[in-house]
Amino acid sequence: MNQRHYRIATIPGDGTGPEVVREAVKVLDEVALKEGFTIEWIPYDLGGDRYLKTGEILPESVVEELREVDAILLGAIGHPDVRPGILERGLLLELRFRLDQYINLRPVVLYPGVETPLKDKKPEDIDFIVIRENTEGLYSGAGGILRQGTPYEIAVQESINTRMGVERCIRYAFEYTRKRNKKKKLTLCGKTNVLIYAFGLWERVFYEVAKEYPDIETDYAHVDATCMWMVKNPEWFDVIVTDNMFGDIITDLGAIIQGGMGIAAGGNINPEGVSMFEPIGGSAPKYTGKNVINPLAAICAGQMLLENIGEERAARIVIEAVKKVVSRDLKSLAAGKMGMTTTEVGDKVCAYVRDYEG
Ligand code: IPM
Ligand code: MN
Repeated sequence: MNQRHYRIATIPGDGTGPEVVREAVKVLDEVALKEGFTIEWIPYDLGGDRYLKTGEILPESVVEELREVDAILLGAIGHPDVRPGILERGLLLELRFRLDQYINLRPVVLYPGVETPLKDKKPEDIDFIVIRENTEGLYSGAGGILRQGTPYEIAVQESINTRMGVERCIRYAFEYTRKRNKKKKLTLCGKTNVLIYAFGLWERVFYEVAKEYPDIETDYAHVDATCMWMVKNPEWFDVIVTDNMFGDIITDLGAIIQGGMGIAAGGNINPEGVSMFEPIGGSAPKYTGKNVINPLAAICAGQMLLENIGEERAARIVIEAVKKVVSRDLKSLAAGKMGMTTTEVGDKVCAYVRDYEG
């Protein structure tokens, strides 16, 4: 018999990362048992604690090992005793860049029973996905400082947009919209009225590639207008494609309209290589070690991971279980207000996974 077996790396990381990864691992093991595959978990103790102890952020040998796994599940990066930016850039962004995870996939879905701050909006109104370019733009690190600390200081931070980088992202977005098969509408989010060089390229590539996808409706919105529509008419969106910086910003807005960081997950995808899945929320130092953080975002990241490795049925079982927990069991999605502990939420998801028939 052909036994399905996966090697999955975990990087629990900082703060509440280890608590939420623990629950996601529990749920994935449960669904693996049900669906007849096995997972070998390979934990890496990267993060603030290791950095403070040894000075290491991301050893070369670890990058090489991570190239060989089937997928990566990440908890959270960011430590109160480490200057902001060191770990974020040295670990999280470095992994995205080194593993060439050029797509950041961020679904914005309101599940039944979840409260949204948008008045009168229902689950059928909030169901879209943001495809964020994940390796270029303002995140490339291009630029520099001259005459630092003097009144003549100059700071330059450049947005790098390559034809190759923009085109592979846009092509991925068109393919994704077709496969998703919902409204079949792809919106380019940019700022063509001001950032004429960068989004000039994005716009040209977008409409060029669009010719190969006559079944997909195309649309364009400036990033500022996108923010407005996401609040006023989120039902207009199906798939949004955008650059790294705008994608970062609009997906926090997306997270809050879908019920907050307790449930928002994302995937850093290398369609030809190793992908990494993470809850979008940070390390939440305030809640660390208290067993009160919501593990559902990490569990949803695990669900995206299952889809990515081809275990689509398992992914569906997990998502159905998550929907049951939010509609039946949780008082709130917010940390400390769930009416359940982190462990209990994970146990509940596991129980619904076990009982799933369909
Ligand atoms: C995110 C985060 C990161 C980003 C930070 C932590 C570097 O905000 O994943 O959205 O800006 O990409
Ligand atoms: Mn962000």
